[in-house]
Amino acid sequence: MKTINDWKKMKQANEKISMVTAYDYPSAKLAEQAGIDTILVGDSLGMVVLGYDSTIEVTVEDMIHHAKAVRRGAKDTFMVVDMPFMSYHLSIEQAMINAQKIVQKTRAEALKLEGVTDDTLHLIEKLTAAGVPVVAHIGLTPQLVNVLGGFRVQGRDKETALKLIKDAKALEKSGAIAIVLECVPDLLAKHITESISIPTIGIGAGVDCNGQVLVYHDLLKYGSDLQPSFVKTYSNTEEEIVRGLKKYHEEVKEASFPTSDHSFKIKEEIMDSIRL
Ligand code: KIV
Ligand code: NA
Repeated sequence: MKTINDWKKMKQANEKISMVTAYDYPSAKLAEQAGIDTILVGDSLGMVVLGYDSTIEVTVEDMIHHAKAVRRGAKDTFMVVDMPFMSYHLSIEQAMINAQKIVQKTRAEALKLEGVTDDTLHLIEKLTAAGVPVVAHIGLTPQLVNVLGGFRVQGRDKETALKLIKDAKALEKSGAIAIVLECVPDLLAKHITESISIPTIGIGAGVDCNGQVLVYHDLLKYGSDLQPSFVKTYSNTEEEIVRGLKKYHEEVKEASFPTSDHSFKIKEEIMDSIRL
Protein backbone atom coordinates (compact mmCIF):
# COMPACT_ATOMS: atom_id res chain seq x y z
CA MET A 1 0.00 0.00 0.00
CA LYS A 2 1.24 3.49 -0.85
CA THR A 3 1.23 5.62 2.31
CA ILE A 4 1.58 9.33 2.98
CA ASN A 5 5.37 8.93 2.95
CA ASP A 6 5.11 7.73 -0.65
CA TRP A 7 2.89 10.71 -1.52
CA LYS A 8 5.55 13.14 -0.25
CA LYS A 9 8.27 11.30 -2.16
CA MET A 10 6.10 11.29 -5.26
CA LYS A 11 5.68 15.06 -5.04
CA GLN A 12 9.43 15.51 -4.63
CA ALA A 13 10.17 13.16 -7.53
CA ASN A 14 7.50 14.83 -9.65
CA GLU A 15 5.63 11.53 -9.94
CA LYS A 16 1.88 12.09 -10.18
CA ILE A 17 -0.57 10.58 -7.69
CA SER A 18 -3.69 8.91 -9.07
CA MET A 19 -6.88 9.00 -7.02
CA VAL A 20 -10.35 7.82 -7.97
CA THR A 21 -13.58 7.64 -6.03
CA ALA A 22 -15.18 4.30 -5.22
CA TYR A 23 -18.43 3.63 -3.42
CA ASP A 24 -18.87 -0.12 -3.16
CA TYR A 25 -17.17 -3.52 -3.33
CA PRO A 26 -16.88 -3.89 -7.13
CA SER A 27 -15.74 -0.32 -7.82
CA ALA A 28 -13.10 -0.63 -5.10
CA LYS A 29 -11.95 -4.03 -6.30
CA LEU A 30 -11.53 -2.79 -9.88
CA ALA A 31 -9.75 0.41 -8.80
CA GLU A 32 -7.27 -1.67 -6.81
CA GLN A 33 -6.87 -4.10 -9.70
CA ALA A 34 -6.08 -1.14 -11.98
CA GLY A 35 -3.27 -0.07 -9.66
CA ILE A 36 -4.77 3.28 -8.64
CA ASP A 37 -2.61 4.91 -5.92
CA THR A 38 -5.43 5.95 -3.60
CA ILE A 39 -9.20 5.60 -3.32
CA LEU A 40 -11.56 8.30 -2.11
CA VAL A 41 -14.91 7.31 -0.72
CA GLY A 42 -16.36 10.69 -1.65
CA ASP A 43 -19.60 12.08 -0.35
CA SER A 44 -20.28 12.49 -4.06
CA LEU A 45 -21.80 9.05 -3.46
CA GLY A 46 -24.95 10.98 -2.52
CA MET A 47 -25.25 12.23 -6.08
CA VAL A 48 -23.57 9.44 -7.99
CA VAL A 49 -25.01 6.30 -6.41
CA LEU A 50 -27.92 7.56 -4.28
CA GLY A 51 -29.36 10.03 -6.78
CA TYR A 52 -29.54 13.15 -4.58
CA ASP A 53 -28.95 16.48 -6.33
CA SER A 54 -26.25 17.57 -3.87
CA THR A 55 -24.05 16.07 -1.16
CA ILE A 56 -25.98 17.79 1.62
CA GLU A 57 -28.23 14.84 2.50
CA VAL A 58 -25.33 12.41 2.96
CA THR A 59 -24.92 11.18 6.55
CA VAL A 60 -22.09 9.69 8.60
CA GLU A 61 -23.95 6.37 8.45
CA ASP A 62 -24.10 6.55 4.63
CA MET A 63 -20.35 7.14 4.51
CA ILE A 64 -19.68 4.23 6.86
CA HIS A 65 -21.99 1.88 4.95
CA HIS A 66 -20.26 2.58 1.64
CA ALA A 67 -16.70 2.83 2.97
CA LYS A 68 -16.99 -0.59 4.64
CA ALA A 69 -17.86 -2.09 1.26
CA VAL A 70 -14.98 -0.22 -0.39
CA ARG A 71 -12.58 -1.51 2.27
CA ARG A 72 -13.67 -5.09 1.62
CA GLY A 73 -12.96 -4.56 -2.09
CA ALA A 74 -9.65 -2.75 -1.70
CA LYS A 75 -7.75 -4.00 1.32
CA ASP A 76 -4.36 -2.90 -0.03
CA THR A 77 -5.12 0.60 -1.28
CA PHE A 78 -4.88 3.79 0.79
CA MET A 79 -8.50 4.76 1.46
CA VAL A 80 -9.62 8.31 2.21
CA VAL A 81 -13.19 8.83 3.43
CA ASP A 82 -15.11 12.12 3.27
CA MET A 83 -16.65 13.50 6.41
CA PRO A 84 -20.12 14.52 5.23
CA PHE A 85 -22.12 17.75 5.55
CA MET A 86 -22.22 19.26 9.07
CA SER A 87 -20.59 16.19 10.63
CA TYR A 88 -17.58 18.28 11.70
CA HIS A 89 -19.10 21.70 12.39
CA LEU A 90 -21.32 21.38 15.45
CA SER A 91 -18.39 21.13 17.87
CA ILE A 92 -14.86 19.79 17.93
CA GLU A 93 -16.06 16.99 20.24
CA GLN A 94 -18.85 15.98 17.88
CA ALA A 95 -16.41 16.10 14.95
CA MET A 96 -13.92 13.90 16.82
CA ILE A 97 -16.66 11.40 17.71
CA ASN A 98 -17.81 11.22 14.08
CA ALA A 99 -14.22 10.85 12.88
CA GLN A 100 -13.61 8.06 15.40
CA LYS A 101 -16.78 6.27 14.27
CA ILE A 102 -15.82 6.48 10.59
CA VAL A 103 -12.21 5.38 11.09
CA GLN A 104 -12.92 2.54 13.52
CA LYS A 105 -15.83 1.15 11.52
CA THR A 106 -14.29 1.48 8.05
CA ARG A 107 -10.55 1.24 8.76
CA ALA A 108 -9.95 4.29 6.55
CA GLU A 109 -6.33 5.43 6.36
CA ALA A 110 -7.39 9.10 6.26
CA LEU A 111 -10.41 11.40 6.34
CA LYS A 112 -11.19 14.38 4.11
CA LEU A 113 -12.76 17.67 5.20
CA GLU A 114 -13.96 20.58 3.07
CA GLY A 115 -13.16 24.23 3.59
CA VAL A 116 -10.97 26.22 5.93
CA THR A 117 -12.00 27.89 9.17
CA ASP A 118 -10.15 28.25 12.47
CA ASP A 119 -12.24 25.31 13.68
CA THR A 120 -11.34 23.04 10.76
CA LEU A 121 -7.64 23.90 11.13
CA HIS A 122 -7.84 23.07 14.84
CA LEU A 123 -9.73 19.88 14.05
CA ILE A 124 -7.05 18.81 11.55
CA GLU A 125 -4.42 19.27 14.27
CA LYS A 126 -6.45 17.27 16.79
CA LEU A 127 -7.22 14.46 14.35
CA THR A 128 -3.59 14.23 13.28
CA ALA A 129 -2.45 14.12 16.90
CA ALA A 130 -4.98 11.35 17.51
CA GLY A 131 -3.61 9.31 14.59
CA VAL A 132 -6.02 10.28 11.84
CA PRO A 133 -4.36 11.89 8.80
CA VAL A 134 -6.51 14.48 7.07
CA VAL A 135 -6.82 15.42 3.40
CA ALA A 136 -8.13 18.96 2.94
CA HIS A 137 -10.39 20.16 0.12
CA ILE A 138 -10.59 23.77 -1.11
CA GLY A 139 -11.81 25.66 -4.17
CA LEU A 140 -15.23 24.40 -5.15
CA THR A 141 -16.38 22.66 -1.98
CA PRO A 142 -19.73 21.02 -2.81
CA GLN A 143 -20.94 20.91 0.80
CA LEU A 144 -20.90 24.73 0.66
CA VAL A 145 -22.78 24.90 -2.65
CA ASN A 146 -25.52 27.11 -1.23
CA VAL A 147 -22.99 29.53 0.25
CA LEU A 148 -20.92 29.60 -2.94
CA GLY A 149 -24.09 30.16 -4.98
CA GLY A 150 -23.68 27.15 -7.25
CA PHE A 151 -21.14 24.73 -8.67
CA ARG A 152 -18.62 27.11 -10.21
CA VAL A 153 -14.91 27.79 -10.59
CA GLN A 154 -13.33 29.38 -7.50
CA GLY A 155 -10.43 31.81 -7.17
CA ARG A 156 -10.77 33.75 -10.41
CA ASP A 157 -10.54 37.15 -8.74
CA LYS A 158 -7.60 38.43 -6.73
CA GLU A 159 -9.31 38.35 -3.35
CA THR A 160 -10.50 34.73 -3.51
CA ALA A 161 -7.25 33.65 -5.18
CA LEU A 162 -5.22 35.12 -2.31
CA LYS A 163 -7.58 33.46 0.18
CA LEU A 164 -7.00 30.06 -1.46
CA ILE A 165 -3.22 30.50 -1.27
CA LYS A 166 -3.43 31.55 2.38
CA ASP A 167 -5.76 28.63 3.15
CA ALA A 168 -3.43 26.12 1.49
CA LYS A 169 -0.52 27.31 3.61
CA ALA A 170 -2.61 27.22 6.78
CA LEU A 171 -3.73 23.68 5.95
CA GLU A 172 -0.15 22.56 5.46
CA LYS A 173 0.75 24.10 8.81
CA SER A 174 -2.15 22.37 10.55
CA GLY A 175 -0.81 19.00 9.41
CA ALA A 176 -3.02 18.17 6.43
CA ILE A 177 -1.39 15.43 4.33
CA ALA A 178 -2.68 16.68 0.97
CA ILE A 179 -5.07 19.23 -0.46
CA VAL A 180 -7.74 18.55 -3.07
CA LEU A 181 -8.09 21.59 -5.33
CA GLU A 182 -11.45 21.50 -7.07
CA CYS A 183 -12.35 23.82 -9.96
CA VAL A 184 -9.47 26.25 -9.53
CA PRO A 185 -7.84 28.04 -12.51
CA ASP A 186 -4.73 26.19 -13.69
CA LEU A 187 -2.15 28.91 -13.02
CA LEU A 188 -3.46 29.47 -9.50
CA ALA A 189 -3.40 25.70 -8.81
CA LYS A 190 0.21 25.63 -10.08
CA HIS A 191 1.13 28.51 -7.79
CA ILE A 192 -0.47 26.82 -4.79
CA THR A 193 1.23 23.51 -5.64
CA GLU A 194 4.61 25.24 -5.73
CA SER A 195 3.94 27.16 -2.50
CA ILE A 196 3.46 24.13 -0.25
CA SER A 197 5.37 20.92 0.48
CA ILE A 198 2.31 18.64 0.73
CA PRO A 199 0.80 17.25 -2.49
CA THR A 200 -2.11 18.91 -4.26
CA ILE A 201 -4.66 16.66 -5.89
CA GLY A 202 -6.56 18.42 -8.64
CA ILE A 203 -10.01 18.01 -10.11
CA GLY A 204 -10.67 20.66 -12.70
CA ALA A 205 -7.47 22.35 -11.49
CA GLY A 206 -5.15 22.13 -14.47
CA VAL A 207 -2.11 20.07 -15.34
CA ASP A 208 0.31 21.06 -12.57
CA CYS A 209 -1.21 19.52 -9.46
CA ASN A 210 0.75 16.67 -7.87
CA GLY A 211 -2.11 14.27 -8.41
CA GLN A 212 -5.52 13.98 -10.00
CA VAL A 213 -8.87 12.74 -8.73
CA LEU A 214 -11.99 11.97 -10.74
CA VAL A 215 -15.35 10.51 -9.87
CA TYR A 216 -15.46 6.83 -10.87
CA HIS A 217 -18.82 7.07 -12.61
CA ASP A 218 -17.71 10.18 -14.53
CA LEU A 219 -14.48 8.85 -16.00
CA LEU A 220 -16.10 5.53 -16.87
CA LYS A 221 -19.33 7.18 -18.07
CA TYR A 222 -21.41 4.95 -15.84
CA GLY A 223 -24.87 6.41 -15.29
CA SER A 224 -23.65 9.86 -14.22
CA ASP A 225 -26.15 12.61 -15.01
CA LEU A 226 -23.92 15.30 -16.44
CA GLN A 227 -20.33 15.27 -17.54
CA PRO A 228 -18.42 18.33 -16.25
CA SER A 229 -16.04 19.84 -18.84
CA PHE A 230 -12.95 18.89 -16.81
CA VAL A 231 -13.78 15.17 -16.99
CA LYS A 232 -12.24 12.90 -19.57
CA THR A 233 -14.27 9.83 -20.50
CA TYR A 234 -12.01 6.77 -20.49
CA SER A 235 -14.64 4.17 -21.28
CA ASN A 236 -18.31 4.10 -22.07
CA THR A 237 -19.49 1.71 -19.40
CA GLU A 238 -23.15 2.66 -19.56
CA GLU A 239 -23.38 1.89 -23.27
CA GLU A 240 -21.94 -1.54 -22.59
CA ILE A 241 -24.31 -2.12 -19.67
CA VAL A 242 -27.43 -1.03 -21.56
CA ARG A 243 -26.39 -3.20 -24.51
CA GLY A 244 -26.13 -6.22 -22.21
CA LEU A 245 -29.39 -5.50 -20.39
CA LYS A 246 -31.32 -5.00 -23.67
CA LYS A 247 -30.01 -8.26 -25.03
CA TYR A 248 -31.01 -10.07 -21.83
CA HIS A 249 -34.48 -8.51 -21.98
CA GLU A 250 -34.92 -9.60 -25.60
CA GLU A 251 -33.71 -13.12 -24.97
CA VAL A 252 -36.04 -13.57 -22.00
CA LYS A 253 -38.95 -12.32 -24.12
CA GLU A 254 -38.16 -14.61 -27.04
CA ALA A 255 -37.32 -17.50 -24.67
CA SER A 256 -33.81 -17.93 -26.04
CA PHE A 257 -32.43 -17.50 -22.52
CA PRO A 258 -32.01 -19.67 -20.55
CA THR A 259 -30.98 -22.68 -22.57
CA SER A 260 -30.56 -26.21 -21.32
CA ASP A 261 -26.91 -25.34 -20.61
CA HIS A 262 -28.01 -22.85 -17.95
CA SER A 263 -30.27 -25.41 -16.25
CA PHE A 264 -29.81 -27.91 -13.41
CA LYS A 265 -30.56 -31.58 -14.02
CA ILE A 266 -32.38 -34.26 -12.06
CA LYS A 267 -32.20 -37.98 -12.85
CA GLU A 268 -34.98 -39.07 -15.22
CA GLU A 269 -35.92 -42.03 -13.00
CA ILE A 270 -36.52 -39.74 -10.05
CA MET A 271 -38.79 -37.56 -12.16
CA ASP A 272 -40.55 -40.67 -13.42
CA SER A 273 -41.21 -41.84 -9.87
CA ILE A 274 -42.61 -38.40 -8.97
CA ARG A 275 -44.88 -38.29 -12.01
CA LEU A 276 -46.37 -41.69 -11.23
O1 KIV B 1 -16.82 13.52 -3.08
C1 KIV B 1 -15.98 13.54 -4.00
O2 KIV B 1 -16.05 12.78 -4.99
C2 KIV B 1 -14.88 14.49 -3.90
C3 KIV B 1 -13.93 14.58 -5.04
C4 KIV B 1 -14.59 15.13 -6.24
C5 KIV B 1 -12.71 15.33 -4.68
O3 KIV B 1 -14.78 15.14 -2.91
NA1 NA C 1 -16.53 15.08 -1.48
